[in-house]
Amino acid sequence: MIPIAQPLVSSCLHAGRISKEKTSESLSAYHRTPEVLELDTALKDSSPYFLGYTIASAFPSILCRHDFDRVFLISDLAVSQLYGPELIELLHNSHVPVEEISIANGERGKTFATLSRLCEDLVRHRISKNSILIAFGGGVIGNIVGLAAGLIYRGVRFIDMPTTLMGQTDSALSNKQAINGDQGKNQFGIYYPPLFVWSDVRMLRSELPRYVRSGLVEGVKNALISDIDFLDYLQVCINPDLSYSDAEYFDLVYRLIESKRRILEKDPTEKHYAIVLEYGHTFGHAIELLAQGHLSHGECVAVGMCLAAELAHNLHLIDDELRDRHYRVLGDVLGIDLRLPIGADSNTLLCIIDSDNKRTGRSVRHVLLSGPGRVAQGDGDYMISVPTERVRIVLDAYPRGHASSKSGG
Ligand SMILES: NC(=O)c1ccc[n+]([C@@H]2O[C@H](COP(=O)([O-])OP(=O)(O)OC[C@H]3O[C@@H](n4cnc5c(N)ncnc54)[C@H](O)[C@@H]3O)[C@@H](O)[C@H]2O)c1
Repeated sequence: MIPIAQPLVSSCLHAGRISKEKTSESLSAYHRTPEVLELDTALKDSSPYFLGYTIASAFPSILCRHDFDRVFLISDLAVSQLYGPELIELLHNSHVPVEEISIANGERGKTFATLSRLCEDLVRHRISKNSILIAFGGGVIGNIVGLAAGLIYRGVRFIDMPTTLMGQTDSALSNKQAINGDQGKNQFGIYYPPLFVWSDVRMLRSELPRYVRSGLVEGVKNALISDIDFLDYLQVCINPDLSYSDAEYFDLVYRLIESKRRILEKDPTEKHYAIVLEYGHTFGHAIELLAQGHLSHGECVAVGMCLAAELAHNLHLIDDELRDRHYRVLGDVLGIDLRLPIGADSNTLLCIIDSDNKRTGRSVRHVLLSGPGRVAQGDGDYMISVPTERVRIVLDAYPRGHASSKSGG
């Protein structure tokens, strides 16, 4: 059971037209009578964020507030088979002209080739400036479709309909849309906001535990960089089999969204303070590129945060306790294998890190902690330049042995 703490929905900020501000008292009523809660993404070009469970029937009326000629539902095969037919039937029943397009699934499909095929397919299907794309899937689908939407005819509208915990609580709260390059993660992209975000937490119940874990890793990250008390909450609500009722999922998703929104409120542009959200991602992205889809994004970020903690410890920025807490929460509680994959040698990782998208000039900079819930400040910002040799010492000493499996189970 997830504990429902006091400030839950009373801090419901911009709860809007559909469901006005809620107190924790009215939240229990919410659980008895599912409805759609309207938040916003707190970003510079903010989008309405609709959240609830078993809310599909309300979707056509929100969609039809907008003028359009056709919608294109874009998903991967897994999501399309699970939820495509019911969504398409719902749209047909509301006389919405809809066409479905499937694209490659997973991280390995987050490429120029997939993006280009999708854009060409949409033009072949006679997409117009007045059409709307729906990104229906995990963070990968959201990123590719968001980027395609920004490129086609210099911009068509898209709706983000995330179906993973990562998508609903992290990538949907970002206007960064990107694909990977041969030499690094998210190397080609743009900032482009969705028309709105639609998250039905019911869909999370079919997600593989591995991906639920992956979404929770980003929540652990939010706690480590900005709100260490939130880590206590997460530790209590992570149950070993990661199974949650719809109502529990709703609470969890809501709190994870809030943990990121609080950071975005300080930097809605995602270009300054919000860089702290990249904690663990410099190492994590290098591991993810090397793993070629065999490890999930969250698994890589988890190892990346442990490496960042080792680096901060090596630089005397954090004590043993904070470093060890990384291993306790991510390894013992969440159950992630925190070793580097076999074959992830230091030279290769350093070479990939060298083309990280946060590098400036000649040095690679890292987001590092200076205490629980605190990020170390570098030269006027939140990244620290660390000499490569120092990073190499940490990488050489870090345990290896993870025989990464295909990210399926
Ligand atoms: N733009 C951002 O700020 C941002 C933030 C976080 C993550 N991301 C990106 O998101 C990606 C990771 O997203 P992800 O963890 O959602 O992985 P993912 O998109 O690869 O999805 C994981 C798998 O789950 C399947 N799936 C999706 N929904 C399902 C459901 N409801 N039931 C069963 N299976 C389902 C998919 O088919 C896929 O195989 C990474 O590429 C990462 O870079 C971007």
